Amino acid sequence: MKLDPKDWASVRAQFRLSPEYVHISNFFLASNPRPVREAMDRHRQAFDENPYTYLEDNMFARPEDMVWRKVCETAADYTGGRAEDIALTTSTTQGLAMVYNGLRLRPDQEILTTRHEWYTHDEAMRLAVVKWGGSIRRIDLYEGPEDVSTDAIVGRIEAAIKPATRILAMTWVHSGTGVRLPLKEIGDLVARVNRQRDEADRIIYVVDGVHGFGCSEAQVASLGCDFFSAGTHKWILGPHGTGLVWAREGQWAHITPTIPTIMAAEPANAWRQERDPQGATPAAWVSPGGFLAFENQWGMIEAFEFIKQIGRKRIADRVAELNGRLKEGLAKLPNVYLHTPRSAAFSAGIVCCDVKGRDPKDVVARLKAHKIIASATPYRHSTVRFSAGIVNTPEDIDKTLDVMRTLG
Ligand SMILES: Cc1ncc(COP(=O)(O)O)c(C=O)c1O
Repeated sequence: MKLDPKDWASVRAQFRLSPEYVHISNFFLASNPRPVREAMDRHRQAFDENPYTYLEDNMFARPEDMVWRKVCETAADYTGGRAEDIALTTSTTQGLAMVYNGLRLRPDQEILTTRHEWYTHDEAMRLAVVKWGGSIRRIDLYEGPEDVSTDAIVGRIEAAIKPATRILAMTWVHSGTGVRLPLKEIGDLVARVNRQRDEADRIIYVVDGVHGFGCSEAQVASLGCDFFSAGTHKWILGPHGTGLVWAREGQWAHITPTIPTIMAAEPANAWRQERDPQGATPAAWVSPGGFLAFENQWGMIEAFEFIKQIGRKRIADRVAELNGRLKEGLAKLPNVYLHTPRSAAFSAGIVCCDVKGRDPKDVVARLKAHKIIASATPYRHSTVRFSAGIVNTPEDIDKTLDVMRTLG
């Protein structure tokens, strides 16, 4: 079926998702829509036919033919900001590790973060601190959904910031609770605090943005953060093993690259000339080499174009509508405790709940027996997690609720 971006059935028809299941774990790893699959197939075939020439022609021969530049341009059209401020990675995790390893703390400086971070974000910080020194302080931003408001969250962060706080590390949408943070207002707080600080002590605001990226209307460049890492293999629906880090203009200069890049001439020229690379670090030096699954990285172009065709507002509205319908239904069940705020302003495409007296894994198994694919979160406190995306229908939500009613 040809894509009609205005028709959700036609959107769904672009995916190969097996029709006998209700796929309601869409936050996890994307099923790729047809244009993305076709792009990957095209690149893969060309690599199989003539790997040397296809890579040389598209990666090294002439700067204007480098496909990764087109990837960055297409991505920048979505993030806002400049294409040259995007580094290409293979995942959210890799991007976060590049940032924390690249930003060195002084021993007296700290990262201020939360107890809501996903393991790989928290671990990326820990590993950098183990290597470079400094410390990490973790705070709670809320205990339950009733605590979630802009004033309350910004207030808790403001109260926790100390003169030693050099990095503020946040996540756009928490995958253990479904809470979406008011990133922009947190960015405003950081800007206010920074007005009183010298450049060397300025707070650097780092965001794990993966679960807002592709399902929220806000443009990354408008959120006030310094570094924003997100995989493009979740809500952007791109090829697996793809992602990016966007940084505010001027911020890449703070980073010392960790993995040698093959997306910039200067580091390799410097090596040939037996000298150090000259100039401030640009994003391209932080894009990890060596050779990659290029058929995947280059398929990011079609993923951003697919999303763009449907429209960021329509996608955000649909995700809010479907997950909102689910939350309203779950909230009526006496044995269900919703961790995710009902308000669409403080949630996105992830819905987490407890079912009284039941292990989340058993709930997920029961749903699976009814051909509904949900998940149990692998956090300290495990919850039952749902995630409706543009491939779902209101009927999928109602089927899910029908099974939950038998439990809750
Ligand atoms: C909040 C959050 N950050 C990061 C990740 C890891 O993403 P990636 O697989 O792109 O590294 C996840 C995984 O779902 C996550 O929930």
